[in-house]
Amino acid sequence: MQAPETVLNGKNVVVIGGTSGIGLATAIAASKLGARVWACGRSAEHMEKAREATAGKVELVQLDTHDDAAMTRLFTDIGRIDHLVSAATGGTRTLKPLIEQSEEQFQAAFGKLWGYAKVARIGAPFVAQDGTITFVSGAPARRFKPNMSALSCVGGAVENMVRCLAVELSPIRVNVVSPGIIDTALFDWMGSEKTERVSAMTQGQLVRRIGRPEEVASALVYLMLNGYATGTTVDVDGGQLLS
Ligand SMILES: NC(=O)c1ccc[n+]([C@@H]2O[C@H](COP(=O)([O-])OP(=O)(O)OC[C@H]3O[C@@H](n4cnc5c(N)ncnc54)[C@H](OP(=O)(O)O)[C@@H]3O)[C@@H](O)[C@H]2O)c1
Repeated sequence: MQAPETVLNGKNVVVIGGTSGIGLATAIAASKLGARVWACGRSAEHMEKAREATAGKVELVQLDTHDDAAMTRLFTDIGRIDHLVSAATGGTRTLKPLIEQSEEQFQAAFGKLWGYAKVARIGAPFVAQDGTITFVSGAPARRFKPNMSALSCVGGAVENMVRCLAVELSPIRVNVVSPGIIDTALFDWMGSEKTERVSAMTQGQLVRRIGRPEEVASALVYLMLNGYATGTTVDVDGGQLLS
C-alpha cells in the first residue's frame, strides 16, 4: 500500500478560492499528500494569511474567478491539471426573503454559479482524463429556511450543474461537497458576536458545534482519490439536513 503522504505525488492540484477557509484547508491537505498545489484568490489580505499558513509549500496566485483571461493564462502555464477544485464564494450572500430582494440582489448571488461554470468551461480541457473537478455547494441547497432563498437556489443549481458536467465530461469525475456551518472568514462579519451566534446556529444539529475547514477539506481530498465517485454530493454538515 502507498504511504498516505505520497498518494498525490506527481499530481497537479489547483484550488480556486484557495486562500482562505475550506479552499485553503484543501490546498494544505493536498500538498501534505504530495501534490504540487496552486491556490488562488483575489485579495492581498487573504493571500498574505495563506502565505503564512502554507509556509512556501503551495503556490499562491492572485486571480478572480470571473477573469477568463487570467484563468486561461494560469491553466495554460500549468499544462496538465489532475484535480481542479473551486471553493470560491464568487457571488453575494443575500440573506432576505425572496420577494424582498431586488432582481439585482437575487442575480448577484448567482455569481458563485457563473464562477464555477467558468472554472469548468475554461479548466476542463486541461484536466487529465483520470482527473477530477470538484465544487462546493452548501446545506441550504437541500435545507430550506426563511431568508436563505438565494443561497438555496444557487446551491441547488451548483449541485445540478455538477451532475450535468459529470455526464458531459466523463471520464473526468465531477463532484460537489456540501458543507454545513464551518468556521471560516465567511462569518467574520459577525465580529465579537461570532462565537455566540454560531453556537446558537449549530445548537439544533446532530453534531452540536461549528465544523472545521479541515473536515470539509478531507471530503474534497476523498473525491480526488476515490476513482469510482462521480456525479455525487458529499455532505459534511454535522447532520444539519436531518435536524
Ligand atoms: N463556511 C460555511 O459555513 C459555508 C457553508 C456552506 C457553504 N460554504 C461555501 O464554501 C465555499 C468556501 O467558503 P469559505 O467558508 O471557505 O469562505 P472563505 O474563508 O471566505 O473563503 C472563500 C475563498 O474564496 C475566495 N474568493 C471569493 N470570491 C472569489 C473570486 N471571485 N475569485 C477568486 N476567489 C474568490 C476568497 O478569497 P478572496 O476573497 O480574497 O478572493 C477565499 O480564498 C464557498 O463557496 C461558500 O459558499 C461555506
